[in-house]
Amino acid sequence: MTSSDRLIEEQIAYYQARAGEYDEWFLRQGRYDHGPEMNARWFAEVEQVARALEAFAPSGDVLELASGTGLWTQRLMTTAQTLTAVDSSPEVHAVNRERLGGASAPVRYEVADLFRWQPDRQYDTIFFSFWLSHVPLERLESFWSLVRAALAPGGRVFFVDALYEETSTAKNHQLEGADAHAVTRRLNDGQEYRIVKVFYRPETLTERLTAWGWQVRIERTPTYFYYGEATIA
Ligand SMILES: C[S@@+](CC[C@H](N)C(=O)[O-])C[C@H]1O[C@@H](n2cnc3c(N)ncnc32)[C@H](O)[C@@H]1O
Repeated sequence: MTSSDRLIEEQIAYYQARAGEYDEWFLRQGRYDHGPEMNARWFAEVEQVARALEAFAPSGDVLELASGTGLWTQRLMTTAQTLTAVDSSPEVHAVNRERLGGASAPVRYEVADLFRWQPDRQYDTIFFSFWLSHVPLERLESFWSLVRAALAPGGRVFFVDALYEETSTAKNHQLEGADAHAVTRRLNDGQEYRIVKVFYRPETLTERLTAWGWQVRIERTPTYFYYGEATIA
């Protein structure tokens, strides 16, 4: 087993254990509360991304990768004709399903490790939020090949992720430099996990994706996020 395999396993375990406290990060609560000014900036930038997603208008058969607790699934649901959500954690999918209406949630949930998963059909839109930074550098190309395989002709991709910024994480987490490829994360009870965290730079990502045959446009919010749209060139 390589060190990247170990990180991937630990990352899966971390998000399974964190399911019940995951939203505190997005909602800037507890250890993720960085004060009114930074919190207001965070929410304004989330709104900027949400508006860009609205303008992109995810449509047709939509696939969400690493769908988590549904913070973005609930937005996709409003325009998707069908919605499939893949994540390695049944625990986060339980939260996701509850958020989207419980047993009647209009979502096909699939539990799978995305580094082993193969799509069984193609989709008009593929979406992933705060997932790319958890894809190790040496697996980035094969991850985008997977996206390509899952994309229907003329299909579109939308993604969003974190820029390198200390206040995006918990007060008791330490980033390990913009070029580090892993971080230590803690749960509220103090349990520690080592996971993948790559702060892909929008310029580098654009160069790579272009070289792999994608047409891509990536934007940044002032402090916290980058988001992009991609189609096959
Ligand atoms: C940072 S969260 C993002 C969740 C959601 N997209 C959001 O924006 O709130 C990362 C997600 O990736 C999932 N995950 C971690 N490793 C995975 C893997 N190998 N395959 C599939 N999902 C994975 C976790 O369970 C978690 O839900």
